[in-house]
Amino acid sequence: MDAYLERLRFGSEGRTARLEEAMRYSLLAGGKRIRPVLALATAEALGRDPEEVLPLAASIEMIHTYSLIHDDLPAMDDDELRRGKPTCHVAFGEDVAILAGDGLFAEALRLALGEQRGEPDAVLAAVRELVGAAGVDGMVGGQFLDVGGPPDADLRRIHELKTGALIAASVGAVLALERVPSPATIPYRRFAAELGVVFQIVDDILDVTGDEAELGKPRGSDERHGKATYVSVFGLDRARELARESHAEARTALSEADGDTRRLGQIADYILTRTT
Ligand code: IPE
Ligand code: IPE
Ligand code: MG
Ligand code: MG
Ligand code: MG
Repeated sequence: MDAYLERLRFGSEGRTARLEEAMRYSLLAGGKRIRPVLALATAEALGRDPEEVLPLAASIEMIHTYSLIHDDLPAMDDDELRRGKPTCHVAFGEDVAILAGDGLFAEALRLALGEQRGEPDAVLAAVRELVGAAGVDGMVGGQFLDVGGPPDADLRRIHELKTGALIAASVGAVLALERVPSPATIPYRRFAAELGVVFQIVDDILDVTGDEAELGKPRGSDERHGKATYVSVFGLDRARELARESHAEARTALSEADGDTRRLGQIADYILTRTT
């Protein structure tokens, strides 16, 4: 995955080289690559060569990286460390960081639409999943509820939107690309949606218990901003229990999916037990 991302270039104008530098700085800073790896593992479960979905997988990681750059901005979470390095706005300035995020989003769509092989309607359906997951009924809507939504916003719903949607789309976009018939997608979709919630509960837990060097981002950011999280609302023990329950739900759904889903199962286990 990283070798593919490394090869991507953005812009043909010498004068935008610094913008490209900022985009590649954040994209190539590391990161667990959970979303693209989920996409590759979904292709594998469906009996396809994972290499065939690399452009789509890379475009998901680019959208995710854009969301991180904007999430860290002073107007949002105001964080200075990401993927073990100064955040994009600290390294390049806020103006360039905003544009680097915007640029990654657009270039992600260009990559998927231009490079992803498949029947045109299947590629469009896959990209539609991604864009839907990034939009108001997905990541951006969830981020809005996180920073400025009504105080009674349901925490699970925020997590489903701000984080779960893009994780679900990492599986869903490949189902769309491979034209898996609708009934057969149901267990995969249940699995991926629940996995997204596990992911964000564990993220909330690690914000309290994690090791900053291992995480590559600041610990205690949520508390500093008075964010409602699974830990602040339910306490650490209950949050851990809820993560385990959601993980078990995800595993049950996966056991009902056709295909060789072993790698997807391993990723789910990693998401529950990760420390980074
Ligand atoms: C962090 O995502 C942001 C959330 C959605 C919680 P990751 O924990 O996947 O971050 P990277 O990609 O590994 O840096
Ligand atoms: C952010 O959630 C989710 C995104 C859409 C980027 P967080 O604000 O908890 O993510 P981290 O902890 O900064 O990675
Ligand atoms: Mg945030
Ligand atoms: Mg944040
Ligand atoms: Mg967090």
